[in-house]
Amino acid sequence: MAEFNLPKNSRIQKGKHFPAQGAKKPRTFKIYRWNPDDGLNPRTDTYEVDMAACGPMVLDALIKIKNEIDPTLTFRRSCREGICGSCAMNIDGTNTLACICASDSVKGGEVAIYPLPHMPVVKDLVPDLTHFYAQHASIRPWLRTQTPAPTDRERLQSKEDRAKLDGLYECILCACCSTACPSYWWNGDRYLGPAILLQAYRWIVDSRDEDTGARLDELEDPFKLYRCHTIMNCTRTCPKGLNPAKAIAEIKKLMLARKV
Ligand code: SF4
Ligand code: SF4
Ligand code: FES
Repeated sequence: MAEFNLPKNSRIQKGKHFPAQGAKKPRTFKIYRWNPDDGLNPRTDTYEVDMAACGPMVLDALIKIKNEIDPTLTFRRSCREGICGSCAMNIDGTNTLACICASDSVKGGEVAIYPLPHMPVVKDLVPDLTHFYAQHASIRPWLRTQTPAPTDRERLQSKEDRAKLDGLYECILCACCSTACPSYWWNGDRYLGPAILLQAYRWIVDSRDEDTGARLDELEDPFKLYRCHTIMNCTRTCPKGLNPAKAIAEIKKLMLARKV
């Protein structure tokens, strides 16, 4: 079994080790564990999984561990195909979706899995996203209009206007980007972070929306928007290949444009 070393003075304790008996292709998964109900410090447990009898993705291994080795392991998942965003976690140091992250893509002996960083933990790999969702609600993420909706058809937009939503509408609100952003780590109480700002921009550029000025007014704040320092961690980590840093830059450009 691969031995792992925790940093000196780490509050995270070494935990249990679950060896795989007779595995043809063993792989070690080192997984963060914390249960608010047992009064113990956080720890990492190690599980050996026979990859010869397991699907290719990290989520497959987590499900196998839960089903066959340790039913107490807790994590979120739903769609298993990169659409719902619920399996976001930190795998081998990168925030990503466990269901589209191949275990083989993680080099080295063991696969280290932690919850999304700098978020309160509900249990094990489950972060508390209450504040993140409240921030999303705060931008009122729906079409805001004054003119009545047509009665005989949808509100239409040209192909060119529709194309402006590409790279934005695909966001699944997984929070991988926001929880990779140092500015969000330190100022997440007031800074909206890349995911929510990308969502804000998605509505700002929607040609059917009639509240663009108010949307920009609502972001004109030293913390909500301007804590982005273009560090680009968000764009590097987005598992959907989106570019929240660019969306933030576009909002800043619009802010400037309306001042001149
Ligand atoms: S921009 Fe990407 S990383 Fe951020 S929430 Fe959306 S899908 Fe997730
Ligand atoms: S570019 Fe902005 S939002 Fe993205 S990680 Fe950097 S500071 Fe955070
Ligand atoms: S389970 Fe839905 S994105 Fe991974």
